[in-house]
Amino acid sequence: MSELMLKIPTIKDKKIIEDFKEEFIVNNEIDNMFGCGSLNKFDNFEMWLEKIEKFSNVKTCPSDRVPATQFISIRISDGKMIGMVNIRHNLNEQLLLHGGHIGDCVRPSERGKGYGTIQISLALNECKKLNINKILMTCDKDNIASAKTIQKNGGILQDEHISENGIPFQRYWIDLNNNN
Ligand SMILES: CC(C)(COP(=O)(O)OP(=O)(O)OC[C@H]1O[C@@H](n2cnc3c(N)ncnc32)[C@H](O)[C@@H]1OP(=O)(O)O)[C@@H](O)C(=O)NCCC(=O)NCCS
Repeated sequence: MSELMLKIPTIKDKKIIEDFKEEFIVNNEIDNMFGCGSLNKFDNFEMWLEKIEKFSNVKTCPSDRVPATQFISIRISDGKMIGMVNIRHNLNEQLLLHGGHIGDCVRPSERGKGYGTIQISLALNECKKLNINKILMTCDKDNIASAKTIQKNGGILQDEHISENGIPFQRYWIDLNNNN
């Protein structure tokens, strides 16, 4: 059985999510909160929750954005929040180039323990449920940890591009029809 579980956040998770965000702030990593539904840009937790709820439903998602489901990952043994994962249900032109279907992060103190890899495999299960079977993931070329978590989940390098900020990044596809 997996060490982690994914769950959709609710108001009951306010404290663990705020603690999680605080760890990124004290480690000067607020800009590394990928896959958090822009939690790093919200001062008010309830407003963030409202936002992710809106995005989760095609009927309430802003028309210029794609629907997305937000998850937090929890370590089953002690209930500690380990990371965040955001699954985009489809790709617009921008996400097709940079961003892809899944965004993710692991809290700084719990990195290098395999959780990033597990989190993606759990996210892929959720993709299956959403009927997304070809998954695009992108990462900066120098983000070795992220590239490894993608590769270990079956990611095949498609190509490399340069972002608007001049940073090289890679695009990987995971084909669930080939994986399982
Ligand atoms: C990317 C991230 C999610 C990886 O999480 P993690 O829990 O550390 O990942 P894992 O423990 O599963 O490690 C995966 C692999 O990367 C390696 N790795 C971890 N940290 C590394 C580092 N700083 N440098 C090089 N390799 C590293 C691990 O050794 C492992 O490889 P191995 O199995 O060959 O030993 C985490 O570093 C993170 O949250 N970074 C900031 C946010 C981010 O970059 N998200 C991805 C956006 S594209």
